[in-house]
This record gives sequence, structure tokens and C-alpha cells, in this order.
Amino acid sequence: MTEALHREVLDDVRARLVTQGPRESGRGPGGPGALGGREVARRAGRGRLAAAVAAREGPAGVLGAEGVLGVTAALAAQITGAGPLQELVDEPGVTDVLVNGAHEVWVDRGHGLVRLPPRTARLGSEDDLRALAVRLAAAAGRRLDDASPFVDAQLPDGVRLHAALPPLSPAGTLLSLRVPRRTAFTLDELVAARSVPPAWGPVLRALVTRRASFLVTGGTGSGKTTVLSTLLGLADPAERLLLVEDGGELVPDHPHVVRLVTRHGNVEGAGRVDLVDLVRQALRMRPDRIVVGEVRGAEVRELLAALNTGHEGGAGTVHANTAADVPARLEALGALAGLGREALAAQAVSAVQVVVHLRRRAGHREMAEIAVLERDERRALTVTTALGPRGRGPGFARLQALTGAV
Ligand SMILES: Nc1ncnc2c1ncn2[C@@H]1O[C@H](COP(=O)(O)OP(=O)(O)O)[C@@H](O)[C@H]1O
Ligand SMILES: [Mg+2]
Repeated sequence: MTEALHREVLDDVRARLVTQGPRESGRGPGGPGALGGREVARRAGRGRLAAAVAAREGPAGVLGAEGVLGVTAALAAQITGAGPLQELVDEPGVTDVLVNGAHEVWVDRGHGLVRLPPRTARLGSEDDLRALAVRLAAAAGRRLDDASPFVDAQLPDGVRLHAALPPLSPAGTLLSLRVPRRTAFTLDELVAARSVPPAWGPVLRALVTRRASFLVTGGTGSGKTTVLSTLLGLADPAERLLLVEDGGELVPDHPHVVRLVTRHGNVEGAGRVDLVDLVRQALRMRPDRIVVGEVRGAEVRELLAALNTGHEGGAGTVHANTAADVPARLEALGALAGLGREALAAQAVSAVQVVVHLRRRAGHREMAEIAVLERDERRALTVTTALGPRGRGPGFARLQALTGAV
């Protein structure tokens, strides 16, 4: 069955369940409209799901018995969410839920990882946990089994899922759930949370409105995607933002956002659409800004080329543990795209003006420095601090020129 048909049937069945309402419990106060489709379906149970799928299918039988089962399973996976972990995922402030086998669950509520007392998550046995992992993968439209024992995907509600099965993980099934914020932080909120020094606010604002191109850098989980969302929200509402991403992680508060997301291919790799393809497409879609959610491969070449051919105001995030690591990281990415060191340096300094570096220390996420990207006397790429923990750095004058001396 084609993916489009599959989706069409799922949507139709979901709509049916919502309009029919829960059969067993009768209609609650306010009628069926008061219940979300998810809640209705949760009450409905698997039997009613299968019946609804069969009803949608009608006598023509395009799906076949196996198809009905497949659609039912996919729908059940979608509507029952993360099972026993859903409560944790829904808890306000939770950023990560990590399961290391059936007896070990860690949660980050924004202040670092904390281990839950044993059995509080009610995961059941290792078999139950494995079944949950498989179900979650199915909800993301992916397979998880002995033949493909890892999955990295996005769940329908935006949660990022990574799963690994034994024996690759001897401790049992591993789940890593990254919970996205549903709305971006405002710049004022980041300042209030002491993640951005108050004096840097106007500089960041000017950087965006003056359409400098910038990279947000930092280690894993340092808040790069979050800060990029915040900064994009400062862009002129009249601009058209084209976001190119692996999953839909960026949530800028902006009226005109167009999103393109990559697609995994089938087992042979057919149908795969990667970031390189997407950046090329984005260029033809009349963007005012091109944004690559996370630059981690050969798409660096397309992004830099775009920013060097009249597409200013572009942005992206790049993994780097320190600001000083950024040039080497860019060179490594350039090498993946066949760009030598010299070519990469030439492209990068003319494409990207500013690096905003983040760090995470003892659970606290903060902006560590705002720097300018330059070439040193040996023509090597360097990141020169403009504003850092000790105030102004040697790159300050250049930053001031870019931001109009705020
Ligand atoms: N300044 C902050 N204060 C509190 N939580 C934050 C902050 N920045 C990010 N987070 C949270 O931390 C998690 C990781 O942030 P994210 O932006 O995805 O990091 P990265 O892109 O660097 O991996 C997210 O759940 C996010 O909501
Ligand atoms: Mg990120």
C-alpha cells in the first residue's frame, strides 16, 4: 500500500472515531466535540479501531486483511502515545525521558537527569518494553526489529524517539525521548532564565533585524535549536522563512514559516530526500531566509553557497563543544562535501558573519559568547570573541559594525 493511501485511511478513520464518539461510555458533558480525537480513540480500544478501519475500507477492500491489521496497528500506536511513559512526557518542564531497560528510567525536568525510583514508570517486563519501542517506532512510520534494531525518528506529537534493541544493548531495550517545547522561548524569557546576559539582548535583536547570517553552536542539548527558534522569531514578520530540518524541531514565533523535512529511504535507500536536496529546493521557493536546523553533513556546502549568492540572513546550528572548535568542525563538514580547507574557509567567512555559542554547565544552559567568524593572518578560519563572559573581546568592533553599534 502506498504511504499516501495509508495516511488517507488513517485520517479518515480518526475522523470517524471523533464524530462517532465513545460507544461504551456514552457522550460526556459537552458532547463528542469536548473530547480530543486521541481521548476518544483511547477509550475506543483496538477492536473498535479495527471495525472503523474495516468500515472505511468498505466492500471494495483495497487494503486486504493484512492491510487492515497494519492500519489498525499504526493507528493504535499513534493514538495511545508513549504508553506508560506518556505521563512523564506530558509533565510540564520535562525535556528528556530515558529508559535503560525495563527497570531504569531517567527524567530531565530541566535541571539535569534524575533517576526515578524503581517501578514508578510501570514499564512491565523487558518484553513489554520492547513491544512499546516497536509500537512507538511504528507510530513514527518506521520499523524496529532484529533486522533494523535502531530507530531515530519523530513521533506524531513531535517527540524525538531513539530506540535500540538487545543484543546491541545488553541492558535491554533503550529508549531516548526528547520532548520539544511546543512554543519558543522569547528573548525576554531567556534573559529572565539567566540564559542570555541582559546586555546581549539588543545585540541579538539587531543581528537578526539587520540580516546578518549566523550559526548557533554548542554541545548536544546546550539549547541550540531553542535559541535559533527564539532568534528567528525576531525576524521581520514580512519575511518568508524557509526551514530545512531533519525533524520539525524549530518552532519560531513568526507568521510566515515554511518547513521542509528530510525523508528516510526504504531499505535500498530509494525515495530518500536529504538536507542537500532540501536546501536546493528551498532556494527556488522565494525564501527571505534559509535556515538549516542542524548542519551536520554535506549540506554545509549548499548552505554556504546560498548565503554567498544573495541569500543573507541565513542561519543554522552546528555542534561544537567550544567556540574555538567551530572552525575545525566546519572544516570537517566541508570535507564531507568535498570542500578543501582553503575553499571552506573562503566560503564560510563570506557566508557567515556571527557565531552564537552556547554551553551547558551543571544543568544550566547559557549563551557563552557572541563571536565573529574571520580569517587569521595565516588565512585560517577563526572565531573571534566579540562578547564573552569577561565582556567585550577583540571581535567587538566588527560585531558593532554588523549590528549598527547597539
Ligand atoms: N535556556 C534554556 N532553559 C531551559 N531549558 C532549555 C533552555 N534551552 C533549551 N532548553 C531545553 O533543553 C532541551 C535541549 O534543547 P535543544 O535546543 O534541543 O538543544 P540542542 O539543539 O543544542 O541539542 C530542550 O528540551 C529545550 O526545551
Ligand atoms: Mg538541536
